[in-house]
Amino acid sequence: MTSIASIGTGNMGRALLKGILEHDPDLDVRATTNSSASAQALGAELPTAAITAVEEDPEANRKAVQGADFVFLGVKPWMMAETVRELAPALSPDTVLVSMAAGVATSDLQRLAPGSPIVRIMPNTPSAIGHGVIALAPDDAVAEASVATLQELLSGAGLVVPMPESDIPAMTGISGSGVAYFFLLAEAMIAGGVKLGLSEETARQMVVATADGAGRLMTHNPDPAALRQSVSSKGGTTLAALDTFIDSGIFPIAEAAVKAAADRSLEMEAENSAAVSG
Ligand SMILES: NC(=O)c1ccc[n+]([C@@H]2O[C@H](COP(=O)([O-])OP(=O)(O)OC[C@H]3O[C@@H](n4cnc5c(N)ncnc54)[C@H](OP(=O)(O)O)[C@@H]3O)[C@@H](O)[C@H]2O)c1
Repeated sequence: MTSIASIGTGNMGRALLKGILEHDPDLDVRATTNSSASAQALGAELPTAAITAVEEDPEANRKAVQGADFVFLGVKPWMMAETVRELAPALSPDTVLVSMAAGVATSDLQRLAPGSPIVRIMPNTPSAIGHGVIALAPDDAVAEASVATLQELLSGAGLVVPMPESDIPAMTGISGSGVAYFFLLAEAMIAGGVKLGLSEETARQMVVATADGAGRLMTHNPDPAALRQSVSSKGGTTLAALDTFIDSGIFPIAEAAVKAAADRSLEMEAENSAAVSG
């Protein structure tokens, strides 16, 4: 049976494990958190996983990785260096390290765990309900069979897109961070509806259902420009709204936002690389 250790299982680690276990409930999963409170909350969400808090057992991380096929690293980026240094002596040579940290380069992980096969992934939070997007960039030490197994595991969490590591900053800009842009637009639309006199509850209900409907339509027809044009009659209400978005700079704003996230990802790589060397 495939075994997974999840070291640092907060928002993102939990989202991925939920998606993976939903798809394959029989996996051997061990997960760690720092605090007992987080471990307890996680236990309620992942009843089949063995969960330990480092606060209760300082050896919890090293114990969890023993004999694991895949070790998911879900601590904050700035904690990655100390966490991987701590784990490295307990890893089997075939154990694949799977880092989900934004802004931590594979070359730095290779320096922290020399010889370990490493996969850098960049997921997003809809992974918890099987609708995530997960970029996957394995290094040369990862066997093809391990890449295939990992792809299959992660497919329970959403769309898995293999790519070179150099594309991860751009992917972070549109997808890893991208879900939040849709949330921001939803917030702004709810506020707009409330300004026009709708109750917050009604506005929220309608915006959420509209976002769901729009997402489903795009899944059927992945051409947002065509879908937009099909609802934009000349002289109509939708075109009046869309012109307002476009005249206010929605395209350059989105481009700048995507670039800001990608640039920040590269900046973080440089900062974290300095921490690994230091
Ligand atoms: N959130 C996103 O949308 C997103 C998207 C893509 C990538 N990521 C990446 O995912 C990683 C985690 O982010 P997150 O948002 O999930 O953060 P988070 O919710 O704060 O989760 C961090 C987890 O690490 C645990 N932890 C802290 N110290 C630990 C230790 N010494 N040993 C074991 N576990 C420890 C925390 O436990 P406690 O709760 O007890 O402190 C918590 O479970 C980051 O590297 C981030 O870059 C996140």
